Amino acid sequence: MVPELAGRAHLQQIIPVTDAALKKAAITLQEIDAIAFTQSPGLIGALLVGASFAKSLSLALNKPLIAVHHMQAHVLANLIPAERPEFPFLCLTVSGGHTQIVKCNGPQQMEVIGETIDDAAGEAFDKTAKLLGLPYPGGPLIDRYAKEGNPQAFQFPEPQIPGLNFSFSGLKTAILYFLQNAGKSTVYKEIFTATEKEKKDFINHHLADICASVQHRIVSILLNKLKKAADQTGINQICIAGGVSANSGLRNAFTAMGIKNGWRTFIPPFEYCTDNAGMIAITAYYKYIAKDFADLDVVPSARSSWNIKN
Ligand code: KG4
Ligand code: ZN
Repeated sequence: MVPELAGRAHLQQIIPVTDAALKKAAITLQEIDAIAFTQSPGLIGALLVGASFAKSLSLALNKPLIAVHHMQAHVLANLIPAERPEFPFLCLTVSGGHTQIVKCNGPQQMEVIGETIDDAAGEAFDKTAKLLGLPYPGGPLIDRYAKEGNPQAFQFPEPQIPGLNFSFSGLKTAILYFLQNAGKSTVYKEIFTATEKEKKDFINHHLADICASVQHRIVSILLNKLKKAADQTGINQICIAGGVSANSGLRNAFTAMGIKNGWRTFIPPFEYCTDNAGMIAITAYYKYIAKDFADLDVVPSARSSWNIKN
């Protein structure tokens, strides 16, 4: 992703997208109660376009302005469907930039109790896809190929990280060495024996099995920590959210784990898993009820840690 191009694209798209949304919802701007926008985290160019546009609308229409945190919104996407979790619940939030276990005591009371110490789960998918020569974002493609493959074909290591934190960088290295050895070994720093052609042929012949095995390991890393969090907190209403929660392997294994452990499990509808405006709107709804409005001098930020305990 090229940050400057993303910012420009936002500028080009924001008015047509707003018009299309109003048309689809069959409402006018005057009927809207408040204007919400994503304050952080994200690409700063894109965030600035959204924030400036939202501020202008808020000022012109004389409607309150609501600043939303992207990761809080991913979690609250679980409150969009009629069948929704009750507080307190746990949420495994897995996206291209984040991997977190969040304890939610209320829509505005959230605590991150575990997170990745290096790569996010989505990055693990995308970086693996890149090593396999697949285009960005690779997560959905790995998901598709994995359906045809054997998840036990190749064994990738599960990192031993204490507590509820995650790590995915070791897995990425293991996959890199595995491919450079054309599948002969996953041992770290093994002498690379394969030629470029052998490597390509190996990938071509085993693509589905490699994808299934990598996906299997990413899912087991995520769910083993989620199980640990459920045991530690005694909370048995559990959600997943974020772009990686669109992954069919994760959705199936999570549902099965819920049945096995007697959890009530929740997964947002597919369209509310990857980035979407619905999750920003549902978060804004709860902030509106709490009268949690932003001032016109609010600024977006590319990075921000968050624990919301109002
Ligand atoms: O939440 P999201 O749409 O954007 C961020 O906030 O980052 O998540 C994007 C991430 C990407 O890494 C993408 O590869 C991954 O979600 N993703 C998937 C699937 N669909 C999207 N990963 C695995 N399987 C999928 N089906
Ligand atoms: Zn996201």
